[in-house]
Amino acid sequence: MDPENTTSVTVLGGQWGDEGKGKVVDLLSAGVHAVVRYNGGHNAGHTVKFADRHFALHLVPSGVIHPGVRCYMGAGMVVDPTALLAEIDDLEHRGVRFDHRLMLSGRAAIILPTHQALDGARERARGEGSIGTTGRGIGPTYQDLAQRRVLRAYLLKEPHRFAVEASMLMEAHNRELELLYRVEPVDVAGAAARLEAAAARLAPLVGEVGPPILEHVRRGDSLLFEGAQGIMLDLYQGTYPFVTSSSCLPGAAAVSCGVPVAVLGPSLAVMKGYVTRVGGGPFPTELSGETGNHLRDRGHEFGTTTGRPRRCGWFDAVAARYAARVAGLDGIALMKLDVLDDLEELRIAVEYRLPGGGTCSEPPDDPQVLATVEPVYETLPGWRSRTAGLLDEKDLPARAAEYIRFIEERVGAPIVLVSTGPRREETLTRGDTVLARRLAGLIAGGSVREQP
Ligand code: GDP
Ligand code: IMO
Ligand code: MG
Repeated sequence: MDPENTTSVTVLGGQWGDEGKGKVVDLLSAGVHAVVRYNGGHNAGHTVKFADRHFALHLVPSGVIHPGVRCYMGAGMVVDPTALLAEIDDLEHRGVRFDHRLMLSGRAAIILPTHQALDGARERARGEGSIGTTGRGIGPTYQDLAQRRVLRAYLLKEPHRFAVEASMLMEAHNRELELLYRVEPVDVAGAAARLEAAAARLAPLVGEVGPPILEHVRRGDSLLFEGAQGIMLDLYQGTYPFVTSSSCLPGAAAVSCGVPVAVLGPSLAVMKGYVTRVGGGPFPTELSGETGNHLRDRGHEFGTTTGRPRRCGWFDAVAARYAARVAGLDGIALMKLDVLDDLEELRIAVEYRLPGGGTCSEPPDDPQVLATVEPVYETLPGWRSRTAGLLDEKDLPARAAEYIRFIEERVGAPIVLVSTGPRREETLTRGDTVLARRLAGLIAGGSVREQP
């Protein structure tokens, strides 16, 4: 095995999620053999659009729309069996053929209905300080994993045993729901019956994902590793405690799949040309007035998973530079440039002013401090012309090109891909780095592969 010979790329969110990972993974999947989702669960909502088709993926890797691409779900994921089945059924109904292409790690953690109930109860108990979770049971499931009592996906292969063990854990959760939070317990018998039925259907998907991934590497296949959420929502390096409960960083892909980090290839972070965040937590460049509303309307900034309006703000180069440092980014895919087309001027945060005086060039670790910093902005002129749908870097208005260069310099990682619309085809590659050439090659793979 020589990982250097592979053409793997790890695609991850570089901000607070919803950057456009689904679009980028789908686009690059034209030229890959397999796509691996490595963290999170159905808190994720990854959108894929091409022609007049529109898909929202939650658990299934975003390469699935391309026939023949194998899809793996790593041990670092948390999986609600009913949600996974519903997603598979929906995709099949819409013409996606699985043909044994999907494999779920037997080591992935299982989300039970009581995890979801606990998520809601804990959020309500937090009151004003709530995280604003997606309410999918993500945090309580990762908590049970760390506590070493979670159920793992290998149990799906023994549906009755799974139902028995799930019932025991759900009874324990019910005690917490009733005694601590004073809420209605979950109907364990009913839930267990549904889980047993789901297990029987999901059992054939369950297996060990590391060996087939390494086999791809040995054959010299191209792979994509697909992260969910984003670097600023990472459990360790994000804006804790307003984060998700898994690691979103590239290295987490190796941990999740049980493969050496060397097979992950370069890391490509997806970032919008501005910033959005859904849920609570500090957001230094947040815009509450007209410009924020403009970005939300123009960018259709409503959650793919929960439908919640996303908070919008100026591009934050302080957070992005930090993201580039902690994740060791090799490149950036800059999304939604078209959303900025009408703005007279654009601002980019280049430093934070601290409440007690002085400035800092990285987000502070203390959320109370981060919540009170004032961004120091550089202002750039808007281009006030249409970039929507542009496919060639040469056609970009000079001021848009200047905006891209400014971000690239401030963040310290090359922008190798620019997205000018929601559809797969509305994209341009940029620059002459190894990564840019690799991406262009993967995208071009689409011209020889059959399209759905
Ligand atoms: P993900 O979670 O990172 O996959 O991102 P989401 O799918 O949750 O949100 C991204 C949204 O932006 C989706 O509605 C995409 O269709 C849309 N989108 C992606 N790239 C572009 C772009 O360049 N321009 C516009 N206007 N929309 C885009
Ligand atoms: P994708 O993969 C945006 C946010 C929630 C909340 C915090 C914790 O589509 O980018 P959780 O349910 O994970 O315990 O919520 O994380 N969050 C996301 N925000 N995109 C996502 O996924 C998210 N997944 C979780 O809003 O603030
Ligand atoms: Mg999303």
